[in-house]
Amino acid sequence: MPNTKNTELLLFLGQWVFLVLLPPCFASAACHQVDHEALLCFSLAFKVPSPPPLNWSASVDCCSWEGISCRQDDGHQRVVGLWLPGRGLTGLLPSDLFSSLSNLQVLDLSSNNFSGNIPDQISNLTNLEKLNLSHNHLTGQIPGSFQSLHLLSSFSVHTMIFRDLYHPESSF
Ligand SMILES: *[C@@H]1O[C@H](CO)[C@@H](O)[C@H](O)[C@H]1NC(C)=O
Ligand SMILES: *[C@@H]1O[C@H](CO)[C@@H](O)[C@H](O)[C@H]1NC(C)=O
Ligand SMILES: *[C@@H]1O[C@H](CO)[C@@H](O)[C@H](O)[C@H]1NC(C)=O
Ligand SMILES: *[C@@H]1O[C@H](CO)[C@@H](O)[C@H](O)[C@H]1NC(C)=O
Repeated sequence: MPNTKNTELLLFLGQWVFLVLLPPCFASAACHQVDHEALLCFSLAFKVPSPPPLNWSASVDCCSWEGISCRQDDGHQRVVGLWLPGRGLTGLLPSDLFSSLSNLQVLDLSSNNFSGNIPDQISNLTNLEKLNLSHNHLTGQIPGSFQSLHLLSSFSVHTMIFRDLYHPESSF
């Protein structure tokens, strides 16, 4: 009799262990924390114009945010697409973001108002296939480190290397 009781108790506990272990598996369907925080940080840089151009809510999974696409990778949803053309985004290109979103394949920040140099950190996006930074106010040269982006098949950037010299769309 005590044996049966023990078995029942073990089965009962076993169920609970199983239930307790389940949630992380389900949680893995959500946006990876690193991507979520990096994007949230990026969006907070744009407080003007009002209302803010990026309507991303911290309480919503980042894979559901406008302009974001995700793909399951290694048990997590990772951000693979950042597509925000023509959103009135102003300022420097977010180098921190590029260091964080390591799975990014498509990056389109075209037709915004980004200025300054193209950060070297874009070269860390080794999975990048499509990059469009055209129609901003970027200056300087395209970083030489871009050569390490072996998967890049579509590339569109305008920069003003010198005053009044407007470079045409280049591709490689
Ligand atoms: C912002 O997003 C929420 C849902 O996430 C939506 O209900 C709301 O209409 C959006 N607002 C604008 C201005 O797009
Ligand atoms: C890059 O973006 C511009 C403006 O949004 C668009 O006109 C152009 O077709 C895009 N280029 C590529 C290669 O997708
Ligand atoms: C674009 O950025 C410049 C500064 O870099 C700012 O003076 C200008 O107001 C911005 N334009 C728009 C439409 O946001
Ligand atoms: C990014 O790439 C640079 C070289 O271009 C390298 O020194 C740096 O360690 C890389 N950073 C990350 C986070 O991979």
